[in-house]
Amino acid sequence: MTGFDLETVDRLLSTTRAVRKRLDLERPVDRSTILECIELSQQAPTAHDSQTWRWIVIDDQKLKDALSESFSVALPTIEKMRAHASTERENRFWDSVEFLTANLARVPVLVIPCVQVSPEERKLGGPATVYGSIFPAIWSFQLALRSRGLGSCLTTQHLMQKKKCDQLLGLPQDVEQIALLPVAYTQGTDFKSTKRPPPETITTFNGWTL
Ligand SMILES: Cc1cc2nc3c(=O)[nH]c(=O)nc-3n(C[C@H](O)[C@H](O)[C@H](O)COP(=O)(O)O)c2cc1C
Repeated sequence: MTGFDLETVDRLLSTTRAVRKRLDLERPVDRSTILECIELSQQAPTAHDSQTWRWIVIDDQKLKDALSESFSVALPTIEKMRAHASTERENRFWDSVEFLTANLARVPVLVIPCVQVSPEERKLGGPATVYGSIFPAIWSFQLALRSRGLGSCLTTQHLMQKKKCDQLLGLPQDVEQIALLPVAYTQGTDFKSTKRPPPETITTFNGWTL
């Protein structure tokens, strides 16, 4: 016996979705709730236990407005990609991306996970160790939000204006921002698992035989 309630754990793992249209833009989010979720994320693994994760939490409206401008720069690209959408599911997806892009500044809190890595360390481990030391924590953070009635969406589109955003945030040279997570309570909590291909179609044993 592990002591885990598997039904609950599996539901958390399989229903933590990218939330955009169902973010509650009106309900405030306490800083203490964000810190609680960051604390849980700190149990995630990092390369050689570097613990180089850094988080910037933005609840200042002027800064949210400025970041949202950079986020919107992706809109023409989004529209071009949307032109290839052929299914209802794809159209729903692009609707939701456009909604978030138009409303980012209204989301109560924006969270930017970063890594602080020296040039030597970067050389030593390469990108897999740099990015691999933050993405597990990002996902833990998102799971912790979900279990508390909040939601988020891992986004990277503001990085089209990475330099400008680095300046806005006052990032030092050795700190790299990795993503932007709009965080809010969700409207309802009844998210569902989504259809993915059976694991056997993406897995081989003892070598590549796909
Ligand atoms: C590396 C990465 C970058 C992403 N960038 C964006 C983004 O810029 N904007 C956005 O709306 N969603 C972004 N997403 C979210 C994905 O679109 C989302 O995971 C996908 O729609 C699947 O949704 P689901 O996780 O609910 O199944 C990103 C996800 C990942 C992993």
